[in-house]
Amino acid sequence: MNETLKNIKARYSCRDFAEQLPTNEQLAAITQAAIQSPSGMNRQFWHVIAVTNKALIAEMEKEGLDNLRKMDESSYQHLQSRGGTLFYHAPCMVFFAVKTAQPAGAELIDLGIIAQNTVLAATSLGLASLHCGFAAFVFAGNKNAHFKNKLKFPDGYECGMAVLLGYEKSPGIPHEPDPSKISFIQ
Ligand SMILES: Cc1cc2nc3c(=O)[nH]c(=O)nc-3n(C[C@H](O)[C@H](O)[C@H](O)COP(=O)(O)O)c2cc1C
Repeated sequence: MNETLKNIKARYSCRDFAEQLPTNEQLAAITQAAIQSPSGMNRQFWHVIAVTNKALIAEMEKEGLDNLRKMDESSYQHLQSRGGTLFYHAPCMVFFAVKTAQPAGAELIDLGIIAQNTVLAATSLGLASLHCGFAAFVFAGNKNAHFKNKLKFPDGYECGMAVLLGYEKSPGIPHEPDPSKISFIQ
């Protein structure tokens, strides 16, 4: 198996991060891999924001949990049963701000690709990661402008999602792929 296939196989969703920060060199390499992503018509309707400010991450987590509780009670309860954190103590978050494409929704494909490039680059550097769709709840309440301002979103951009990055505190295992999800037609 080559290195790319090994990294794809090794990646898993980490929900227990250690305090140790990724280095600036690691973050530079990971964000560079992110913006190397393809996008429809090379529109690059994304902006990548790496956050390591502990106080800001804590403030965003509180707001995200508050909004989730008000807007999606069952997901909120699910998180409570898992330890009550939204960001699992991750010391670093990479946000992807996105601009709506035409046709609307097409930007979400680009978003998925850039997020996956990010986690695979992180895996290749020995870091743990998690795709965090719930990070969008940080922006779902009346502090939307406040957090967009803090994260310096470009004008007209909204939160797509975030990726959590760091070192695993306890080891996790990749999910078992289901071979019945593949067909070959010859
Ligand atoms: C678009 C997307 C959003 C996700 N959002 C969250 C999230 O907010 N919180 C979380 O704990 N896991 C989240 N996940 C992780 C999935 O639950 C996880 O990928 C899935 O259970 C498969 O496990 P694996 O990533 O370990 O293979 C998200 C995954 C994707 C692809």
